This record gives sequence, C-alpha cells and structure tokens, in this order.
Amino acid sequence: MKYNIALIHGDGIGPEVVNEAVHVLDTVAKKFGHEFCYTPLLAGGCAIDQKGECLPQETIDACKKADAVLLGAVGGWKWDTLPGDKRPERALLGLRKELGLFANIRPALLFDALAEACPLKAEIVEGGLDLVVVRELTGGIYFGERGTKETSMGPAAYDVEQYAEEEVRRIAVTAFDMAMKRNKKVTSVDKANVLESSRLWRRVVTETAKNYPEVTLEHLYIDNAAMQLVRNPKQFDVIVTGNIFGDILSDEASMITGSIGMLPSASLAAGNFGMYEPVHGSAPDIAGQDKANPMATILSAAMMLRYTFGLSKEADAIENAVKAVLAKGYRTPDIYTEGMTLVGTKEAGSLVCAEI
Ligand code: NAD
Ligand code: IPM
Ligand code: MN
Repeated sequence: MKYNIALIHGDGIGPEVVNEAVHVLDTVAKKFGHEFCYTPLLAGGCAIDQKGECLPQETIDACKKADAVLLGAVGGWKWDTLPGDKRPERALLGLRKELGLFANIRPALLFDALAEACPLKAEIVEGGLDLVVVRELTGGIYFGERGTKETSMGPAAYDVEQYAEEEVRRIAVTAFDMAMKRNKKVTSVDKANVLESSRLWRRVVTETAKNYPEVTLEHLYIDNAAMQLVRNPKQFDVIVTGNIFGDILSDEASMITGSIGMLPSASLAAGNFGMYEPVHGSAPDIAGQDKANPMATILSAAMMLRYTFGLSKEADAIENAVKAVLAKGYRTPDIYTEGMTLVGTKEAGSLVCAEI
C-alpha cells in the first residue's frame, strides 16, 4: 500500500536523524512491499531563514494532507534572541495545535543491552524498565494567555496555566485505554496541593477512572513524581500529566532508557493521524558531527507504522532491529560504555537497515 509521509527535518541534528529514519522506512518498504512517499517541508529555524517565518501555511496544509508527519527537531542558538512569537519552537507548538495533536505518547523502555548506559544502580533497573508518559500536548501553560505588564515590583511577564474539563478527560481516556493494554496502572501527576487547574485535573481523572474498574489509579504531586522516577521507576506503568510537567518528566524518564537519544514519541490527534518526533531537541552542541543517536527518531518511525498505519509486523521489525544492533554492542557516543563499538549517526542507521 502507499502511504504519504510529511517530513520535517528541522534544525541541528534534525536532518541527520530524520535521514536515518527514512533509510530505515525505505528498507521496511522494500522488505514488506509498501510504498512510502515523502513530502519534505520547512518548519523551525530553517523556515525562518528560507521563508521568513517559522511555520509557513504551506507546511501546515501539506501536513494536513499527509497520512502522518515525521519531525526531527527545531531550534538552535542562531534563533535564540528572536522574540517569543517568532522563535523556531513556535512552529512545533503551531503544528501540534493546528493538527489537533493533544496526546503525546512517550514510551521509556530500557533495552536489556543498555542497562550499563542507564545511570541508575543495577538493582534499580534489574529486570527491565518499561513505562510510558502520556503528556497532554495542546493545552496548559504552553497555550494559555501570556504577556507582559507593569507591577509594583516593576515590569513583569506572565503565562497562564489553564485546563478545561474536556481537555483533561480526553487525555485521561488515552491514558486509561493504554493502561488496559499494559499493566493496568495509571499514575496521574499534578500539583493539586497548590494549583486550581491541577485540582480540576485530579477531579476529572478520578471521574474518568470510574469507567476503568480494572485499572489502578494513583495520584502523585509533580515534585514527588520526579523523585520517585529515579528512586523506583518500576512502580510506574502509565504516567498521565499536563503539558509542562510531561515535558520535564519525559526528559527525566529518557535517562531510564540510557539517553535522550533513545526516546521516541507519538503526538496523536483523535483518530489515527499523528506526528512522530523524538523527545530530544536539535542538539546544536553535536550537530553536523555524525554523533547524534538516530534511534529515537527510528523508533518514532516505528510508532508511526504501528499507530497511524496499523503496520505492527513492520513496526516490530524496526524495534527488533534496533534491539539487535544494541545487543551486538554498537553505540553512538551518548550511550557508549567501555568495550562497546563506537559508531556514528549514519552507521547506526545503516546497521538497523542491515538487521531488517
Ligand atoms: P536537546 O535535547 O537538543 O539537547 C540536550 C542534550 O542532549 C545535549 O547535550 C545534546 O547533545 C544531547 N542530545 C540530544 N539529542 C541527542 C541525540 N539524538 N543523540 C545524542 N545526544 C543527544 O535540548 P536543548 O539543548 O535544551 O535544546 C536545544 C534546542 O532544541 C533548543 O532550541 C530547544 O528549544 C530545541 N528543542 C526542540 C525540540 C523539538 O523540536 N522537538 C525538543 C527539545 C528541544
Ligand atoms: C519537546 C520540546 C518542546 C516542548 C519545545 C521545543 C517547544 O521540549 O517536544 O519536548 O516543550 O514541548
Ligand atoms: Mn521537551
């Protein structure tokens, strides 16, 4: 079958990791008899440089026409001094909002071969770690009112955290549905001891749980959750949380997988449409050096096959190939430990293709 994929390479290491994911997709296409057609699109800093704006309308339109979107990363030092509404990161927020991608699924899975790369003690990770952060992606403080004003303490700036009941309900449903297919535990993370928006969050998640009697629901405050994640990550199955808490917790969770370069994500709309993006950013400190770990993007492509295209055999093939490459001891610098074979971005991608 033919699938249309919008490709947003973005900035920094974005193009390097997306290229490897495309090689892997092409290998899957050949092996399983599919056709993946790519439409490269501009968004982020490169779009500012070439089109004068971070998110051209043609990019939004083409994404809407595609079956799915694969995105590298946007942003970088070059654009860090632009005003907030002109920054490359606004492209990402604009895409998420325009495409209705309210559910961000960030699975943190420690592959056996990477136990050494995980900074947690062996006894904490023994037996493997497997949790998923379900992050609300189109609400909260990222999209609330923001601005500047004069106060008695001088000039001030503000960003409003706000959640509507329906926004919380739909992400809670995503989390409970996911828990039903996993270990039937949901941990909802909020700051209900301080924030009104979190009290609403907690109430709506608790109401939603009534439709899932088999799922155990637990509530944690964000500060405690951040601590528990490194103290005893095995207690978690599905973590559901708001936009900003989910941003922070998922970077923390990424270290459970050995490196931020290992953590994929799916940003899903209602229905099957999704944008697939590694959790990491454009990593300007290593861009253009063939040092970036492409696995997060390759695994994001696998999530695309699984969630949007319903190609689970093909997704398994990618995930098993990644596992095999790691089991054979190949490591990009971020996950390198003594005695392993150091490889660059391109070689890591080629090794995954060869395994497929
Ligand atoms: P980052 O994730 O880009 O980098 C953090 C650290 O992790 C760096 O040391 C980097 O070298 C390393 N790292 C990240 N990805 C890696 C990979 N695949 N392989 C090996 N090492 C990797 O976060 P940052 O430095 O805070 O942000 C850099 C830029 O990226 C900023 O402009 C930020 O806004 C943007 N950003 C974009 C996205 C996105 O587009 N999805 C996500 C996060 C950050
Ligand atoms: C992420 C990123 C983005 C976010 C930024 C670049 C807007 O950090 O996808 O995790 O905060 O959502
Ligand atoms: Mn982030």
